[in-house]
Amino acid sequence: MEGSNEEHSPNERTNMVEQSNTPQKSGKRATIFAVTSGKGGVGKTSLSVNVACEFSRRGYRTIIIDTDLGLANAHILAGIKPEKTLSDYISGTAELADIIVDGPCQVKFISGGSGVKDMANLDDNGRAQICVAIEDLAQFCDVVILDTGAGVSKGVTDFVTLADQCVLVTTSNFAAIADAYGIVKVIVQDGFDKPIHAVVNRVRSPEEAEQVFLKLKGCTERFLGFDLNWLGLLPEDSSVEGAVLKRAPFSEVFPGSVAARYLAKLVSGLERYVGAPKPVPQAAKD
Ligand SMILES: Nc1ncnc2c1ncn2[C@@H]1O[C@H](COP(=O)(O)OP(=O)(O)O)[C@@H](O)[C@H]1O
Ligand SMILES: [Mg+2]
Repeated sequence: MEGSNEEHSPNERTNMVEQSNTPQKSGKRATIFAVTSGKGGVGKTSLSVNVACEFSRRGYRTIIIDTDLGLANAHILAGIKPEKTLSDYISGTAELADIIVDGPCQVKFISGGSGVKDMANLDDNGRAQICVAIEDLAQFCDVVILDTGAGVSKGVTDFVTLADQCVLVTTSNFAAIADAYGIVKVIVQDGFDKPIHAVVNRVRSPEEAEQVFLKLKGCTERFLGFDLNWLGLLPEDSSVEGAVLKRAPFSEVFPGSVAARYLAKLVSGLERYVGAPKPVPQAAKD
């Protein structure tokens, strides 16, 4: 499977992207955010899709790439059915431009392939090929969101390492906190020295979130000498699950929900790391 794209030079790939419906090259590279966690099911995908939508609503040209290879499900939460995925790109049956589809809120979207064993077991070369593709795409937009899988395998850490900023998601569940510490430990010991921003999801109060964050930050400082940033919290909110059932981002179908309000705060916290000039927000353009 690997190496099947060798006939395309980086310039040719870039041209393919340019010919697609992606925005024009700006000369500035996007900020790449990886949304990750130690434990699965803590809300990474839901957060990734909604963060991408919120950036797009604020006028940033945004692409979300589902790097949960083989078990990709961001397209479901985004309510789209991509015909081609990273799996087709890696196998050489699709060009990069062919796997970019339109998502909600004018976000561009690339799926990682679902139920594809070859993708779940992708080797170093295959992942490196995807990393090159991500870097190519970053030339054409302002924000790249990588929705990663859970855990500490290279299938996760390669994409976190590629990113400029890491968003670490946990809930207040003890195993989720322990596993969040686990992923920080692995990447920091591998030399990761970029910012890691913690989000505590599904909390019932700000105090609960603060306690979780302080516990995690205390451990990373004490045992790894690594300073974790506080990004914010997302409350437990039935709108999030309700939106999943509607196959749409909660910030789009329930814009007045508590979760959507907190999401806006999280994105404001991340916006300062985006290098592009502040664009005109979507609403102001309409
Ligand atoms: N803040 C929240 N309130 C209520 N349900 C949530 C919240 N965040 C996530 N969920 C639910 O948790 C489940 C797992 O979320 P998902 O984003 O798929 O997690 P992950 O990508 O980390 O595996 C989904 O059904 C989602 O609707
Ligand atoms: Mg997920």
